[in-house]
Amino acid sequence: MAIAREQVYFTAFLLLLSLSELASSKSATEDPIPAEWPHQFHALMFMNRTGNLQKLDLWYDWSNGRNFNIIQNQLDHVVTYDLEWNNGTSFIYTLDPSHPTCQVIHVEVGILRPNWLDGATYLGQQRVDNFLCNVWEKVDFIWYYEDVLTRRPVKWIFYSGYTAHVMTFEVGAVLEDPNWQAPVYCFSENEKENNSPILRPAVPGGVLGSLMRGISARETM
Ligand SMILES: *[C@@H]1O[C@H](CO)[C@@H](O)[C@H](O)[C@H]1NC(C)=O
Ligand SMILES: *[C@@H]1O[C@H](CO)[C@@H](O)[C@H](O)[C@H]1NC(C)=O
Repeated sequence: MAIAREQVYFTAFLLLLSLSELASSKSATEDPIPAEWPHQFHALMFMNRTGNLQKLDLWYDWSNGRNFNIIQNQLDHVVTYDLEWNNGTSFIYTLDPSHPTCQVIHVEVGILRPNWLDGATYLGQQRVDNFLCNVWEKVDFIWYYEDVLTRRPVKWIFYSGYTAHVMTFEVGAVLEDPNWQAPVYCFSENEKENNSPILRPAVPGGVLGSLMRGISARETM
């Protein structure tokens, strides 16, 4: 199941960031710092994972403690919904009537905070996707490109090469409440039994170990 891998990136990312917050030390340089994420926005993104292209609708809603990745592989009618709550519960499901699926996972960190890029290392300027960008790197996990003029994100790359190109960035756009309801089969007993939590770091020091186990467990799916 290809989609599991994307979920791993987002989840691994959250865990690493929560780790890095413990360890981050503020540098006293004059380097530019990335703009905080608006508390609510909608971004349409094109994703590239070693040549496999995806369309990803990102609905970031910090104000309501929720984040939605709605993902479709190129020319594939199946849409995968990755709904993340700030209490650590994520629902990953499809609504395809012929093949409804749902996985529920629990992690001990919530969604990305608006200031999640704090403490990133500035790498200078680079022209990417035809925009002059400031570039940062955070915890050897993500490279982040922000338009120098508008300070909007243009692109980011996970350590694995999984790349996001930001196509639209609508600040203040909010997805209406009914769309945030996971389908009923996410709450059935069978589903719960079949989908025991995979990523469950016990202590911050154990995060990386859990993470690696989580990744190898899920990448075989
Ligand atoms: C996707 O990424 C691969 C490298 O992993 C690159 O060769 C290819 O040109 C990219 N495709 C698009 C449409 O950007
Ligand atoms: C987190 O919040 C969601 C949405 O309200 C809920 O469905 C889920 O059960 C909650 N998880 C926990 C662990 O409380």
